[in-house]
Amino acid sequence: MATKIKVEQGDCVEVLRNYLPEYFDLIVTSPPYADRRQHTYGGVKPEHYVEWFLERSAEFHRVLKPTGSFVLNIKEKAENGERHTYVLELILALRKQGWLWTEEYIWHKRNCYPGKWPNRFRDAWERCLHFTKQRKFKMNQEAVMVPMGDWADARLKSLGKNDVVRFDSQVGSGFGKNIANWTQRTQAYPTNVIHMATECGNKNHSAAFPQALPEWFIKLFSDEGDWVLDPFVGSGTTLEVARSLGRNAVGIDLLPEYCAIAEAAVADAQYQLLEERAAYDKREKKTSDRIHRKPDTKLPPEAARKPRRVKA
Ligand SMILES: C[S@@+](CC[C@H](N)C(=O)[O-])C[C@H]1O[C@@H](n2cnc3c(N)ncnc32)[C@H](O)[C@@H]1O
Repeated sequence: MATKIKVEQGDCVEVLRNYLPEYFDLIVTSPPYADRRQHTYGGVKPEHYVEWFLERSAEFHRVLKPTGSFVLNIKEKAENGERHTYVLELILALRKQGWLWTEEYIWHKRNCYPGKWPNRFRDAWERCLHFTKQRKFKMNQEAVMVPMGDWADARLKSLGKNDVVRFDSQVGSGFGKNIANWTQRTQAYPTNVIHMATECGNKNHSAAFPQALPEWFIKLFSDEGDWVLDPFVGSGTTLEVARSLGRNAVGIDLLPEYCAIAEAAVADAQYQLLEERAAYDKREKKTSDRIHRKPDTKLPPEAARKPRRVKA
């Protein structure tokens, strides 16, 4: 399926005014984390962040379909010995703006190395806040299932009688469980903690997220042919992933230099897709040649007379 990918330069609040209401199926983005990257792409002071963001999220709300999702990857910094509260304030303000705060996913940065400060340890996780416009929204839970690994086997070895038969929990909550049910399965649903390394290639952007992050949400909250928006697109990670998954996408960035990087990334992705397609076509042609070749004369005379039947 041919996908459409567009990079637009400008403030997302202005650019989005040109889009029709309920245009996008999914918004997935990582905005400036207040003024953390002041020296690269500027920023907004934490005290003004909520007001600044709400002007933009009003547009996000307008252009998102009723069944759509808005995923916001963000993390507040620590300053003067304590955490800022602007993200918490933003969540409350977004609810007042009409969003449902449906879920909070935690991105656990698997490859963080240890570190300590006088009053805390290494920050190894970020929020991925999930907002929707209504309770019923598009969610493809099967698309992000994870391999069971050897969890079930290991757990089974230590099965007690309570595990084998369905039983109500010992605290009397009324919930039953049956671990044995899991033994035949190869895949399970993930939790709301997403374990991913921070690896994001050499992107020429100081705050690029890893491809696996938008990939997970794009698979979960959109279908092929849907429209994905990243209003703070940076180096274009979301666009590359959207294209590879057969989704259409629009990316917006304030800075022309990042738009150029995003455009190049998408062009690269396009080139890669063409190469993959060419390799696939070549493989297909080889198979087809094999299927349609003349009867093999090296076969015994009986077999050589009849063309071999090959499964389609
Ligand atoms: C955290 S970075 C996004 C990085 C991106 N996820 C990636 O993988 O490269 C935030 C981006 O938002 C852009 N930005 C800041 N204010 C903006 C605005 N008002 N409208 C659009 N983009 C903006 C910055 O230039 C920056 O590239």
